[in-house]
Amino acid sequence: VPEQIRPDALVPDFFQHYMEKEIREQPIILADSLGQQGLAPDLATMLGDEAARNLPSVESVVLIGVGSSGHAALTARYWIEALTGLPTSVETASEYRFREAAMPRRALVIGISQSGETIDTLAAIAQAQKLGALYTLAISNVADSSLMRATHFGYCTEAGPEIGVTSTKSFTTQLLALYRLALGLSRALGFVTNAELATIESELAQLPESVNEVLRLEPQFAQWAHRLVDHPLLLCTARHMLYPIAMEGAHKFQEVAYLHAEGYPGGELKHGPLALVDRDLPVVACMPWNRHAEKLLTNLQEVRARRGELFVLSDAALAAGERFNAIRMPAGLRGLNPILYAVAMQMLAYRAALNLGTEIDSPRNLTKAAINE
Ligand code: G6P
Repeated sequence: VPEQIRPDALVPDFFQHYMEKEIREQPIILADSLGQQGLAPDLATMLGDEAARNLPSVESVVLIGVGSSGHAALTARYWIEALTGLPTSVETASEYRFREAAMPRRALVIGISQSGETIDTLAAIAQAQKLGALYTLAISNVADSSLMRATHFGYCTEAGPEIGVTSTKSFTTQLLALYRLALGLSRALGFVTNAELATIESELAQLPESVNEVLRLEPQFAQWAHRLVDHPLLLCTARHMLYPIAMEGAHKFQEVAYLHAEGYPGGELKHGPLALVDRDLPVVACMPWNRHAEKLLTNLQEVRARRGELFVLSDAALAAGERFNAIRMPAGLRGLNPILYAVAMQMLAYRAALNLGTEIDSPRNLTKAAINE
């Protein structure tokens, strides 16, 4: 077991919990990563010359992980498809490892794991190799982890040791790595235009300060958290590339606040969850104002009509008539919004857990990495 997954000494006095420390470290860690490798590094800078020579020949991508790493995989599918045009699928490691899956043509299989020691993810990569993956790539926070050793190529997210069991900074650094990997592939394939690349670089440059802005919203998250913990069930929802972030938000609430939270894509609410809605059901929505927002708004109005209470994170000024609780998020990051909204959901779940007095850094029944069968 690598050293870093054992909880070590006391949390520094300044923070109540490692989770808080690790949430607050994110702007600086993201800035360091962007500073060290450049905003949009090419494949050679990220993964070395051999990867840069070979990866442009892949014709498909398979992303594999569990827990938060699985949510990073789900988010990355949107980026990879949009930035490269490569057919991309997402697999849950614990299922994939036992499946006789059909391997897509010339596939790059990416295993994502903070620890790099999760047994299901390791077994899934072995299964992908058996099934004929062309190349395998690890994204891990531990440079010499088993996953890094088992794959052709590796990228270390360099978030530093993460002590809290729930993923925070390791999740957002995975997202940044996957976004830049998609961009690196896109550049190598000649898919992204120079003008689009320049816009994306300016968004990447803004990212650390925008994450800081989200952290400055903490008093508002604290107020929401206070109200959310009184309810037996909580739904989290969003659309498009924010939908995996709604899932990740619900996962945070489960892990650290022991709340029964579920994440759904907005369009799925009417296929079941709406039956649960009454005045006792709060719904937290991630709704950056983009081409998917109006559809999500319609989903939220259906919740509202059944007296569910809405808590909406959005970069748009929502009309008071909508009767939403709203927190105004930083605007302008488009493709990077999943990172901003993930930080917001982390802070919200952390503040809910504080209210409930749970064991935030070592939640009951959970381990940092599931290394046993
Ligand atoms: C455990 C933790 C989760 C984590 C998952 C994946 O189940 O409780 O919070 O997301 O492992 O860990 P990994 O190290 O593979 O990213």
